[in-house]
Amino acid sequence: MKSKQELLNENENIEIELFLQAIYMKFGYDFRNYGKAHIKRRVRHRLTVSDFNSVSELIHKLLYDHMFYQDVLQDLSITVTEMFRDPDFYLAVRKEVVALLKTYPFIKIWHAGCATGEEVYSMAILLKEEGLLKRSQIYATDFNQMALQKARNGIYPIDRIKEYTQNYQKSGGKASFSDYYSARYESVILNESLRENIVFADHNLVTDGVFGEMNMVICRNVMIYFDKELQDKVIRLFYDSLVPGGFLCLGSKESLRFASLADRFDVTTERQKIYRKKFETL
Ligand SMILES: C[S@@+](CC[C@H](N)C(=O)[O-])C[C@H]1O[C@@H](n2cnc3c(N)ncnc32)[C@H](O)[C@@H]1O
Repeated sequence: MKSKQELLNENENIEIELFLQAIYMKFGYDFRNYGKAHIKRRVRHRLTVSDFNSVSELIHKLLYDHMFYQDVLQDLSITVTEMFRDPDFYLAVRKEVVALLKTYPFIKIWHAGCATGEEVYSMAILLKEEGLLKRSQIYATDFNQMALQKARNGIYPIDRIKEYTQNYQKSGGKASFSDYYSARYESVILNESLRENIVFADHNLVTDGVFGEMNMVICRNVMIYFDKELQDKVIRLFYDSLVPGGFLCLGSKESLRFASLADRFDVTTERQKIYRKKFETL
């Protein structure tokens, strides 16, 4: 016989599946293949900060209060990010990728799951310093509209600048980080010129299609929230979006090693999670 705790867990799992199904059927956002532990943590968080006693009550609120799904989307989308996050990664891009990009007349880069934009501007700074920004087109996408709006604004709290400056220096930055922003009260505004070649757009990795002919796809710290099946599906999306020889960059806790398409990529550096789509062999 099942213990009371086992029964409670079982019921909670059923309710969470119904909750995800309700979000999908009513709003088209598909979280059904996100990692179960992540979803459970976020749902429990919502229960803790609100007056609801059960997931079933959340489902009712979701179906009958149109504004509530915005809160739910924010709960399920973790937008933690920083400028030059994992500086070693940017250093590796400078050392291992830039030389090849320099051989292209035009460069297309897709930042998938860009959150509030810090990593996109970091890449724009790197490209500028390498003389590549003017011939680059950067697509920065996320399904979180609130995060995307912050990304478009390019305004960040001044109290993080010290940390960002250190990251920038460790990442091989060639100038002074303060060259790239102006301070206003409690915030900094990134230079307009960094934004000129960036297009910010709404795109859902689970339900939307490919971005064609990319030389580089950067999707860091996003697939960590997906189950294996969804990770494979999204890696296929990136594979189809890349030109042969294009680079795929993942987050420090992610890897292509166990992906079903792993053998279609060469490893540029496993430590910094930079991979390169193989040229087709007949
Ligand atoms: C932890 S942040 C990572 C931000 C940045 N890439 C970095 O590494 O610092 C994860 C981002 O992925 C986005 N995301 C999660 N699921 C997504 C999906 N299905 N489609 C598009 N973006 C998604 C979230 O909204 C969030 O902004």
